[in-house]
Amino acid sequence: MRIGVLTGGGDAPGTNAVIRAVVKALIRREGAEVIGIEDGYLGLIERRVRPLDWRSVSGIVAQGGTLLGTTNRVNPLDHEGRDRRPEVLAHAQELALDGVVAIGGDGTLAIAAALHEAGLPTIGVPKTIDNDIVGVERSFGFDTAVARATEALDQLQTTGHSHGRVMLLQTMGRHAGWIALEAGIAGGADIILLPELGFDLDAVAAVCRQREAAQRYTVICVAEGVRSGEPPSPPGIAETLAARLQPLLHSEVRAVVLGHVQRGGPPTASDRVLATRYGVAAADLVCAGQWGCMIGLRDARLEPMPLSTAAGRTRKVPQDHPLLACARDTGVSLGRATQG
Ligand code: F6P
Repeated sequence: MRIGVLTGGGDAPGTNAVIRAVVKALIRREGAEVIGIEDGYLGLIERRVRPLDWRSVSGIVAQGGTLLGTTNRVNPLDHEGRDRRPEVLAHAQELALDGVVAIGGDGTLAIAAALHEAGLPTIGVPKTIDNDIVGVERSFGFDTAVARATEALDQLQTTGHSHGRVMLLQTMGRHAGWIALEAGIAGGADIILLPELGFDLDAVAAVCRQREAAQRYTVICVAEGVRSGEPPSPPGIAETLAARLQPLLHSEVRAVVLGHVQRGGPPTASDRVLATRYGVAAADLVCAGQWGCMIGLRDARLEPMPLSTAAGRTRKVPQDHPLLACARDTGVSLGRATQG
């Protein structure tokens, strides 16, 4: 058996742990040969590959990034103005691949579904720090991102308190606010703003003014996908919001964009375990010949789902999610005047 592995889309801490688990489990179970495909689907188009043996994936469980490289700008369905599926299929055949394990976000998984339909047996492993893939209760990398953002909030708490300032932290999360929500709760943010809920500037300013009088300072955790009603000034919503809040307050406002610090570096222990479970589950599907599936996570159990499950959809924070109630009940403002 010869199996290709590739990583596509933005990196997430734990990706190397998935690669390692896929390779080790396939070697142990099937004596399989595993071929690493470089830079996502580009490696399949350009036929850039390298063997992955037991030794080459040993010692990487704690490493951030992806040893195979990645890109989110290459789609074989339309690369440089052409459909590259014929090349991809031809290269897979030349390499004698029985199938490919594609580790990536919704875009990578949608392409995997299309390649599977075109005749390349494929299995998907969902990957995003945003935790917003449909069918996946918890994606690896999310815990690390939340830990990084929480640490930043811990730091903003003390400097914010010292200066009596409003400190805004912008987390990642273009379409969903999971990172901001969990980090905001863990880091004791006073206000948490999510793309799913939007916000009312006057309500946010009112909370900051109340706190100016009592506690001196305010910490706000805002997801990058929150819209302010006007075009965000670079580098994003935190700066825009700071500029709009400042005239309404006595205290100084400062904005921090956390950015790729949330994505790089070693995964947390919990992400290493989760990533290893995803990798072994993918190897299970390969061994069972269950192609055309991705690994989902439902009710804390990993299970196969159709590859198309995630395509073109986002798992947003539902309005009735228990963590929203948890935040409100502990006095956190979600940026609206009235909150249930
Ligand atoms: O989807 C993961 C993510 O980290 C988002 O949270 C973020 O908006 C985006 O990727 C950043 O992408 P890039 O690294 O391409 O700028």
